[in-house]
Amino acid sequence: MSFIKKLLRKGKDEGVKGSGVNEVTEEFKDLSVVLKSRKYLRPEFRVLESYPLTEPWAYAVIIENINTGEIVYNVEEVGLSDQELKVFKDVMNYLTWELEPPKGNVDIREYFQKNAMRVIKLFQIRLGKTPMLSWSKITYYVEREILGYGFLDPLFRDPNIEDISCNGPGKPIYVWHRKYESIPTNLSFPNEEELSKYILKLAHMAGKHISVAYPVLDAILPGGHRVAATFQKEVSTKGSTFAIRKFREDPITVIDMINFGTISPELAAYFWLLMDYKMVTLILGATGAGKTSTLNALACLLRPTYKIVTVEDTPELRLPQENWVQLVSRPSYLATGGPGEIDLFQLVKVALRYRPDVLIVGEVRGEEAYVLFQAIATGHSGMTTLHAESIEAAVKRLTSPPMNIPQSYIPLINVALVIKRVTKIDEFGRPRPTRRITNVWEVEDYEKYLEVCRWDPVRDKFELSLSKSLLLKKISEVSGKSLSELLDDLSLRKSILEWLAVNKIRSYKEVAKYVYKYYLSPKEVLSSIKVMR
Ligand SMILES: Nc1ncnc2c1ncn2[C@@H]1O[C@H](COP(=O)(O)OP(=O)(O)OP(=O)(O)O)[C@@H](O)[C@H]1O
Ligand SMILES: [Mg+2]
Repeated sequence: MSFIKKLLRKGKDEGVKGSGVNEVTEEFKDLSVVLKSRKYLRPEFRVLESYPLTEPWAYAVIIENINTGEIVYNVEEVGLSDQELKVFKDVMNYLTWELEPPKGNVDIREYFQKNAMRVIKLFQIRLGKTPMLSWSKITYYVEREILGYGFLDPLFRDPNIEDISCNGPGKPIYVWHRKYESIPTNLSFPNEEELSKYILKLAHMAGKHISVAYPVLDAILPGGHRVAATFQKEVSTKGSTFAIRKFREDPITVIDMINFGTISPELAAYFWLLMDYKMVTLILGATGAGKTSTLNALACLLRPTYKIVTVEDTPELRLPQENWVQLVSRPSYLATGGPGEIDLFQLVKVALRYRPDVLIVGEVRGEEAYVLFQAIATGHSGMTTLHAESIEAAVKRLTSPPMNIPQSYIPLINVALVIKRVTKIDEFGRPRPTRRITNVWEVEDYEKYLEVCRWDPVRDKFELSLSKSLLLKKISEVSGKSLSELLDDLSLRKSILEWLAVNKIRSYKEVAKYVYKYYLSPKEVLSSIKVMR
């Protein structure tokens, strides 16, 4: 039975009013789910994909209009019956108005979760035998409202969604889906009032402030999601807006990148070797191209004995190394800026006091770039990302205001890569968005760059010419290893990465285990891989 049929059946079995599709919108405004009926069951729509988000209550149904090609992401939640809705409202009222605020230093989420459960139990006892009520369904809605992101919560649970954005009231919420790119959903805010309320909720969840007086928000939500928002019509003509970049609990690793085809095992091994010898690395790309993810994936390959200090505006990096200090900038406690603000520039200076082997700056945009280059000039290694699509454009940005890096500092960069969103045709002939590292340059001098790798879009192959590499020669000079020894080392690292990729050993902790083993004894890792093969 298809899951939609199951869903409809489930609705009937549980005595849900109507079809089992959410019908609570009109009756309960806080949920504000605007569900445009089950239009995908009409002949002009075909379901491309459907999967659970929070089983058995919420599902994603992705449909395509066969006449227009438009793809829509539908969130389907099992509806509450009138009776369930009433209990839900009572529980919510109780939690909102009667629950004492927590005392002392307690985790607020835990406090609410415990109390929500207690209150639901109390209601259950008070109402006695109620076969028509699904308590677990009510619990789902209460948790979604109190601890989650309300009616958008199902979107936060979909690992395929990278971004969630709202362009104003009455407009569909858009998501950036890994397979279908930017597509509208069946969710929207019916009016400005509901949308403003939601944005205030987001600001509170992030412990920040947004209002008519300070109508912009840039903050981190629980779970690490990055939110940018505008309030009402102060700075956005069509009303409040927001954009959320979802944080991946489980970061993309170099093994994922190999399996996605973003990088080849050989190119990954090349970077692994460069990381090991503390080569200064610059990661380039457009917005949302995957710069930070690549930075994180490559930094995971750094030797565990290296002292790593990272400096970021939002805490996006997640490294397995123990010897890691994560510094995050802090906006001013006044929304207008000024007092209390700790910016990247100050933090990079502080970071140097920690004597890092590798200083990682999440993204350079301003004068912090200058301090980073000074650190590199004094013998530290560095990694950073920059919004640019080629080495030439990157150097232009670096040497212009506000970064103002002197041209003489540019050769301190050892290697630069660019990651791009590209489209590939899948086995069904459909265009699918994906990412590729399209170019890698070694920096010889200012305006003298050596392209060592280029991605061939026709064959979907990475053309890496190691024989050209200046960095391998440089490493050979400092390490006392011959070029052929380095190439053997590189090919050993490549075999390890290939083996991990084939065996889907991919989480950042698992990958780190093999990376560490390699640093302890390369031969042992190779023989254990051979045994397991
Ligand atoms: N190689 C990849 N394959 C598939 N998805 C990826 C890849 N790299 C990154 N992503 C996804 O793309 C989204 C954007 O990634 P990331 O934050 O790394 O981009 P960015 O270039 O740093 O963006 P920004 O310009 O906003 O800082 C994330 O949801 C991430 O999970
Ligand atoms: Mg980034």
